[in-house]
Amino acid sequence: MSNYSPKTFYVILGIFFISFGINAQKLITIPIETSQNALVFQTDKDNRLGTVFFGKKLAQSSDYGFITKEYKINDENSGIFNSVYTPSGTWNMVEPAIEVKHADGNSSLELKYVSHEVKKIDDNVSETVIVLKDPVYALEVRLFYKVYYKENVIEQWSVIKHQEAKNITLQKYASANLYFMADDYYLNHYHGGWAKEMKPEETKLTAGIKTLDSKLGTRANLFQPPTFMLSFDKPATEDAGKVLLGTLAWSGNFKIDFELDTYHNLRLLAGINSHASEYSLASNQDFKTPSFIFTFSENGKGEASRNMHNWARKYRILDGEGSRLTLLNNWEATYFDFDEPKLTKLFKDGKKLGVDMFLLDDGWFANKYPRNGDAAGLGDWQENRKKLPNGIGYLVKEATKAGIKFGIWVEPEMVNPKSELYEKHLDWVIREPQRPEHYFRNQLPLDLSNPEVQDFVYGVIDNLFTKNPEIAFIKWDCNAVVYNAHSAYLEKKGLPQTHLYVEYVRGLYKVLEKIRAKYPKVPMMLCSGGGGRVDYEALKYFTEFWVSDNTDPLERVFMQWEYSYFYPAIAQCNHITDWSKVGIKYRTDVAMMGKMGYDIVVSHLSEKELEFSQQALANYKRISDVVWHGDLYRLKNPWENPYASLMFSNATQDHAVMFSYLTTNRYDGVYSVTPVKLKGLDPKKKYKIQEINVYPDTKSSIAKDLVYSGDYLMTIGLNPNITLRRTSVVLELTEVK
Ligand code: GLA
Repeated sequence: MSNYSPKTFYVILGIFFISFGINAQKLITIPIETSQNALVFQTDKDNRLGTVFFGKKLAQSSDYGFITKEYKINDENSGIFNSVYTPSGTWNMVEPAIEVKHADGNSSLELKYVSHEVKKIDDNVSETVIVLKDPVYALEVRLFYKVYYKENVIEQWSVIKHQEAKNITLQKYASANLYFMADDYYLNHYHGGWAKEMKPEETKLTAGIKTLDSKLGTRANLFQPPTFMLSFDKPATEDAGKVLLGTLAWSGNFKIDFELDTYHNLRLLAGINSHASEYSLASNQDFKTPSFIFTFSENGKGEASRNMHNWARKYRILDGEGSRLTLLNNWEATYFDFDEPKLTKLFKDGKKLGVDMFLLDDGWFANKYPRNGDAAGLGDWQENRKKLPNGIGYLVKEATKAGIKFGIWVEPEMVNPKSELYEKHLDWVIREPQRPEHYFRNQLPLDLSNPEVQDFVYGVIDNLFTKNPEIAFIKWDCNAVVYNAHSAYLEKKGLPQTHLYVEYVRGLYKVLEKIRAKYPKVPMMLCSGGGGRVDYEALKYFTEFWVSDNTDPLERVFMQWEYSYFYPAIAQCNHITDWSKVGIKYRTDVAMMGKMGYDIVVSHLSEKELEFSQQALANYKRISDVVWHGDLYRLKNPWENPYASLMFSNATQDHAVMFSYLTTNRYDGVYSVTPVKLKGLDPKKKYKIQEINVYPDTKSSIAKDLVYSGDYLMTIGLNPNITLRRTSVVLELTEVK
């Protein structure tokens, strides 16, 4: 040291600090961990926050800091960065998460890391909040990651806020922007329509963008559901492979993009569809995006789906861990053609059958334009005096007398042009005044962006309950999409029409929130001309959803199989109907893998059919705890085999039920000679196996009181003995001590 002059010393010290500062600039690493997985973010030298890892978590979280060296992620000049929330109008050259026009008309945005904090909500749930800010404009984005540790589920959303002098325009506002690094990516997604919901497709993602989206306004699940499974490296199977299972919790237009970039990394963007939905945001106002919910498994689609079910039952679906009512619905039995004597007879039939509740469907309301078909009366929620001269109150009383609960169908968001509501409140209807009206099932949606309409819709439900507090169930339908998206309310308020799609859904949630504040527990079924509307935001308010108007049991095996990846059995309404000519046993066995109900004319059942159904309902009461709250294991996939097999096992693994359904008419001896390996049992426990739902006067080909170890059943398996004459088989497994 004495060899250096003080000046030289400080110069050297200065150089040392500068170079140390560059080389060892403290990068911030933010691991977001569940019990199995991690999502890891890290700042770069410019203080931008990027995703550096997503997958099975490392034993040492300090090791995450090394990851960037192993992967090709960023290239200074490429305009591609693994951003956690990609801005647009500055360096970015790929699909952005957010696009903004500032108050001064400028369209550039940069987002830099500012801070983050982790809040512990309870022993299992925590929330990480990350703040990003634009260094030039007064705009911030807060990213929320709510972690459900045991369930391996992450729920994420964002909140955008600014303090600019005037409103800014949000042109795009994603909920999630994830980044993955794998050899290849396989997307399992869905498409469909009325009576053909949830048709799966699996495709290898190629360079460019693959989009899943909806522009229907309502009924977001109809054409392309917001649910998918994404496999990494190779397609995941039921029990093997890396797979992310994800969905957007939003009951309106959504968009999910999968962009395979030039480094073969995959960028996922999920959120409200920005199509025709620019949003003008006032200063200091929060814009909260819906939740993107996802889970990841290294052990295939089965485990991923069980993660989602565990989360959904515990944290999301209304009364997800409770019980459900079996019911008799009159839709297919009567359609619009009923009166008091007919209905009271049906109550007795329901009681005889053994269900908990009678559900009165469409057609009970409207007088000036009676609801005798789907072209009139919607919106006029007064009892039809001809069909029901004594009103709903009388029906509730008669049902109670018959020893059965009473539920009712409504479609409060909609209006037929042939209705008093339409005549009185044209300004409440979503329609483009300059253009001809365009109908979906002869009807139009009401404008839920309008608080008066929200009150009206709330009032439909509130009036029913106020007058008839005994009503035990609501089926809430939604049969039209939004054509001619124009709101008289937004126009009157001087607000942009491009708010309509967003405000419609927010209005709907406001109504549901208010209903649940007053009626927290009454079970409600989400229905939408079949399965046109189901998502995890709506399921906060609903106990269950209608899977499809298609109740052909063979079609249902496939449909219910696919829905089962995303939604637990307790939420899936499966009804036994006369849609198909298949025997009642097959129809019943198929309905039992979810929440069972009936939509048949009980008096048309033969003696044996009735006896079988009564017995099946008694069986269902006994096994429903396992089906509703147990773990689902898929054993034989009907897309790959001539039959489907699946089972539910309860948490203590002492009670299980296995369903097998033949799905072909072809003679194929193979399915009747191979055992099916069971799953989810305790290898050390012994189980008694009993065939249930055996049709009267037929014999089970499964020996009575068979006892096997869980080890045997899971290693060797069990032959349900499915044949062309035994097309469906239900086996109950009970531990013997
Ligand atoms: C929709 C539903 C049906 C039934 C009818 C009534 O199509 O999916 O279950 O309620 O409406 O109009």
